[in-house]
Amino acid sequence: MKLLHKTLLATGALLAAGCSDPNPPETLPADLAAGKQVVETTCIACHGQGLNGAPILGNPKMWAKRLPQGEDTLVSHAINGYAYDMMPPRGGNPDLSDTQVRNAVRYMMSLVQPET
Ligand code: HEC
Repeated sequence: MKLLHKTLLATGALLAAGCSDPNPPETLPADLAAGKQVVETTCIACHGQGLNGAPILGNPKMWAKRLPQGEDTLVSHAINGYAYDMMPPRGGNPDLSDTQVRNAVRYMMSLVQPET
């Protein structure tokens, strides 16, 4: 009983959070929602405006050559750094876990490729 109650509360909180979003991203899966958070707090510093040539979020042209490398390669570049660390390891935030970086990359990819 107690557990069920908790689950209902958590669901309610999620729904409430979704409703307060002025631009509801039609219920993102949990990993993408977590990735969005990382992107909007860390990666956006460069990927928002294209600093140093960073591929801009949601710009399909700028991602066209990068996407074919596949998720694993992009994630590894994001974790380890890329292009002489113009793309710094973990976006310059060593506190991010591998999973957090992967979710962030997945979210970035989701902005420029249609759902399969
Ligand atoms: C200090 C600026 C900066 C920050 C912060 C940053 N990036 Fe980047 N990122 C870049 C630049 C610049 C490039 C393009 C490098 C190149 O190819 O010349 C890049 C490229 C990438 C690529 C493409 C790599 C490839 O193989 O083509 C991915 C994926 C990526 N970044 C993910 C992330 C993620 C995830 C975060 C946040 C955790 C992040 N970046 C934060 C600057 C940044």
